[in-house]
Amino acid sequence: MPIQPSGLTIPVARATTVISVTAVIATEALSKRFPRVTALDRLTLDIGPGVTGLVGSNGAGKSTLIKILLGLSPATEGRAAVLGLDVATSGAAIRERVGYMPEHDCLPPDVSATEFVVHMARMSGLPPTAARERTADTLRHVGLYEERYRPIGGYSTGMKQRVKLAQALVHDPQLVLLDEPTNGLDPVGRDEMLGLIRRIHTDFGISVLVTSHLLGELERTCDHVVVIDGGALLRSSSTSDFTQITTTLAVEVTDSDTHPDGTDALRQVLTKAGVALVGQDGLDAEGLPGAGHILLVEATGEETYDLVRDSVAGLGLGLVRMEQRRHHIAEVFRTEQGAAHTVPAPAAGAVQQAATPGPYQKEGERSR
Ligand SMILES: Nc1ncnc2c1ncn2[C@@H]1O[C@H](COP(=O)(O)OP(=O)(O)O)[C@@H](O)[C@H]1O
Ligand SMILES: [Mg+2]
Repeated sequence: MPIQPSGLTIPVARATTVISVTAVIATEALSKRFPRVTALDRLTLDIGPGVTGLVGSNGAGKSTLIKILLGLSPATEGRAAVLGLDVATSGAAIRERVGYMPEHDCLPPDVSATEFVVHMARMSGLPPTAARERTADTLRHVGLYEERYRPIGGYSTGMKQRVKLAQALVHDPQLVLLDEPTNGLDPVGRDEMLGLIRRIHTDFGISVLVTSHLLGELERTCDHVVVIDGGALLRSSSTSDFTQITTTLAVEVTDSDTHPDGTDALRQVLTKAGVALVGQDGLDAEGLPGAGHILLVEATGEETYDLVRDSVAGLGLGLVRMEQRRHHIAEVFRTEQGAAHTVPAPAAGAVQQAATPGPYQKEGERSR
């Protein structure tokens, strides 16, 4: 039964009318207390359609929130609605409409992906033929082909994560809750999984809530990012608000016979010219391709671009790239916590993404 308590909808006020648009997920002062720990602490959220990242370190309360949203675990206080349904009273109806990819390995080793996903589809109420068809489509979508007939026990972590994703999608839900889907994956597997997650929304229009303990990981995948810590809300913003363009230029040059360390030669010339270089010590943490060969230059205006270009040409070096950097989500937090506004080392375990090419990127350009 849909609930309409105040605060669980997004009211759009006009002079005489009030329109209520139900959020995909809404919580109001939601708390969950275990005997020794408060896992969620008066958490109020409004999550709309699209792909939303729920980010927080281990123990922040992400999995606890997901279990409450599915109606699998009762909240201690507060309330929550998913697709307009009250989690306290409509758990079964929510689970019909929502797919869930659990955090931990939960797959039976002795059956094939096809058998398992068909079984899950049947459990969701699909008739046998529809269950088989949907299973084939879904496994293809997640990139499992011939392997789908082999027992899951022999799968790699990446393949198991794909099976877990497929079973969350097979009953054509309106929303999927994905709990740490990139866990245990190498960087390539991680990128592939994030691409699949993005396509769940772009190809099928399904809304996604995806959790991660890595602050920087979701910024290319999500429209919106919610950060929680100790069960409480730290920040909820659109991804573009997090990743504002900066005034820092990333400059990469080639070496030459005259200047075997082109980067260092350019550094000296720019320093002499009075250009501010930032975060020199943190370059390896930058995570850009070729990090260590990248100078970060504080651009005061157009003239800085000209100066860099002319200096590179003057040294006879090749200009590989010159691009404006964007903030990474992790940096936003460091800056807000009062740390220097430079290039920080990543948070423990945090993955830094390569800077988005800016308008001044000159990939492959040579100044000679
Ligand atoms: N069933 C439980 N009993 C007691 N404490 C729990 C239980 N589930 C989670 N917790 C605690 O609640 C906190 C949040 O856990 P969890 O939601 O799993 O965090 P996350 O998924 O963000 O890593 C942690 O301190 C965890 O130890
Ligand atoms: Mg968890």
